[in-house]
Amino acid sequence: MDELLERAADAAQEEVMDGAALRGSSFDYLAQPGTNLAAKAQAFHAWAENRVAHGVFPYAKRLGGRPGATAELTLLDGQRHAGLNYSSQEYLSLARHPRVCAAAQAAMERYGVHSAGSTALAGNVEETTALEAELGELLRMPEVLLFPTGWAAGFGAIKGLVRETDHVVMDQLAHNCLHEGARAATPNIHLHRHLDMDHVERLLKRVRQRDPHNGILLVTEGCFSMDADSPDLKRLQALAREHGALLMVDVAHDLGCMGPGGGGQLALQGMLGQVDLVMGSFSKTFASNGGFVASHDRAIKEYLRFYAAPNTFSNALSPVQVAIIRACVGVVRSAEGQQRRDRLMHAILGLRGALTEQGITVLGHPSPIVPVLLGNDALARVACREMSRAGLLANLVEYPAVSLNSARLRMQVMADHTPALGQTAARIVAEALHRAREITGTSH
Ligand SMILES: Cc1ncc(COP(=O)(O)O)c(C=O)c1O
Repeated sequence: MDELLERAADAAQEEVMDGAALRGSSFDYLAQPGTNLAAKAQAFHAWAENRVAHGVFPYAKRLGGRPGATAELTLLDGQRHAGLNYSSQEYLSLARHPRVCAAAQAAMERYGVHSAGSTALAGNVEETTALEAELGELLRMPEVLLFPTGWAAGFGAIKGLVRETDHVVMDQLAHNCLHEGARAATPNIHLHRHLDMDHVERLLKRVRQRDPHNGILLVTEGCFSMDADSPDLKRLQALAREHGALLMVDVAHDLGCMGPGGGGQLALQGMLGQVDLVMGSFSKTFASNGGFVASHDRAIKEYLRFYAAPNTFSNALSPVQVAIIRACVGVVRSAEGQQRRDRLMHAILGLRGALTEQGITVLGHPSPIVPVLLGNDALARVACREMSRAGLLANLVEYPAVSLNSARLRMQVMADHTPALGQTAARIVAEALHRAREITGTSH
């Protein structure tokens, strides 16, 4: 792995940076005046292309094979970077598991490759119902409805349940699908400070006092995807009950890969089967597209089937996807699943420890997401380029996805990573930050 560091040194010739590539953000192109809609897209494209030309637009990359602990990514400018892969969402390393691949093949032979309709019409197969039941057992919530993606599940659950006169109380850092769902459903959105339970309580009290007649959906995440931290789920559920609200928890990043039995934060906090609604995604631990909404109430499941538009008006998960997810749920619930979670946690702790030893700030708590604070947006863009050239593949998160100048590297760990790989990765991050400070003349 020392080769990787040598490559970093080779890449360290003096770079002439165009300042424009380090300035601005995608937010600048969100609301532009003018009648010409195409011109608005073109303005963004020109800004992004300038970043591409300077190697500081690390988005829309193409993966050259399976998303393993090492991988090759092709950037938009055609450059190929190979190295340690902390950029894939493959928490339990199930994408190449023999049972998972065999299940996909068997489903393809039985059903062909098809997309046969919405779950509201004829899009389900027998295995769809079996998956709903098995997921219900994992969650200890019997009523599970599957969605084509996790995003669709989050958006659809809120838009499907909440009407214009109802209210959504939500953590300000909740995922985009939850914000978009709330915005589409009602103007009555009340954001609370991240993880601030007292603020949640004050908001719920005020909303309930002012409006005793309409519904309230309280929305949070089990493990926040930019900060790797978790709310007090017991307290949130108690507050929801006290104020006549329903609680929904997005478990996209913790279900299956964390907690006893793979029950995620809900299991870690003794709340498995104890909250009103749970939604999640299969795209992090379960090796497939797809999402779900779970509850104890058959009526909610059937209501969402017909009132959650991304479910009703979009085709269901294909039989191959269903088979993959079922096989992954099987592994998650087995002794092998626990071994994989143990390996994952070992790799997470190793990486966090190695980064800290290098004097790098790591945010949040041990989870498959390891957010590394880079800070200044310009510095972060250059650092990310240097890392990628040196053989560390990890995703950059910058404003407006996080607040201005609190850019971070979102390293996503998988069971196939080892603490030794974490050591190498941490050295590359430290070297790249050093180099980026030299190039940008930034001291922090
Ligand atoms: C917290 C959270 N919820 C929902 C989603 C959407 O899931 P999917 O990628 O399956 O659409 C994501 C993934 O980006 C996420 O991080």
